[in-house]
Amino acid sequence: MAPDNRFRFTGIECVKFAVENLAEALRFANDWGLAPAESSDPEVKVFRAVDGSEVQVVAADPARADRRPIGGGSGMCEIVWGVEDRAALQALADELGRDRKAEFDAEGVLHSVDDLGINLGFRIAQRRPVLYEVTRFNAPGRPDRLNRRAASYQAAKPQEISHLAIGVDDAGQAVKFYIERLGFIISDRYANRGIFLRCSPAGNHHHVFFMNAKAPGTRFNHLAFKVRDIHEVIGGGQHLESLDWKTFAGPGRHMVSSACFWYFQSPFGGSWEYAADEDVVTAEWESQDFAATAHIFSEWTFGLEKSDGTLKGPISASKVQAL
Ligand SMILES: [Fe+2]
Repeated sequence: MAPDNRFRFTGIECVKFAVENLAEALRFANDWGLAPAESSDPEVKVFRAVDGSEVQVVAADPARADRRPIGGGSGMCEIVWGVEDRAALQALADELGRDRKAEFDAEGVLHSVDDLGINLGFRIAQRRPVLYEVTRFNAPGRPDRLNRRAASYQAAKPQEISHLAIGVDDAGQAVKFYIERLGFIISDRYANRGIFLRCSPAGNHHHVFFMNAKAPGTRFNHLAFKVRDIHEVIGGGQHLESLDWKTFAGPGRHMVSSACFWYFQSPFGGSWEYAADEDVVTAEWESQDFAATAHIFSEWTFGLEKSDGTLKGPISASKVQAL
């Protein structure tokens, strides 16, 4: 069955976080390379990647529903998805309004909720890709960068939000709402532990990843940002390390999605990931079920120990479950 794409999703526009240590979160977002942006509410801090994709952050307040992250502690409190036009937004309001809240706010953002209780927003996409000089490589016999030195990076400047990963009790159950109600598409399955979804037939390999978490409940796992190339992953990661932020995993290279990555522990209740050279797909992409092998998380990862066939790192924090 061909994907219907009736809501014409464009990707993640904004992730809203509520955190226990606001000062540390602001310092991390700055160090990460996001640009502070104007905010209409002084209590809501806004940061943007180059294309305008946003992170918003407030101090967590368990007494306020809009400042209570799902799962408690620090974490996400809303994911805002982009759609191409107003007709798509209205179609979403009609679809979701059949069995749940679907309300527009004064700015025209539609607010609803998924089946797990994750708050969702939808707005006409504001992200705008910014042209930049793409890195060229000199392969043997195929030089593509003549008489020019390669780029180097003292710090990263993320171009855009790529994807969000969410820990859940049952990924197979969690994706049903996104597939059946929003028309998301499975790009790949991951070692019986998680499902990679994209929001439109063509574009990012995945925009959201649901993984079976060991800890019960639903919570933020990680947020990934696209940077220009592998050199920027390394430059950005070394910059973070120099500021004493701690590596969660990396640098390394994923088997699924092909991305070069470096994850850091963040004050946002999970980790943030620099990613470069992720797969970009079309409706012709064939999804794959990856086997539950120890090395499935990555082709290689610096500093990641393997012993007795088990892998230490993010995948060890997930549980095997039939999907
Ligand atoms: Fe990721």
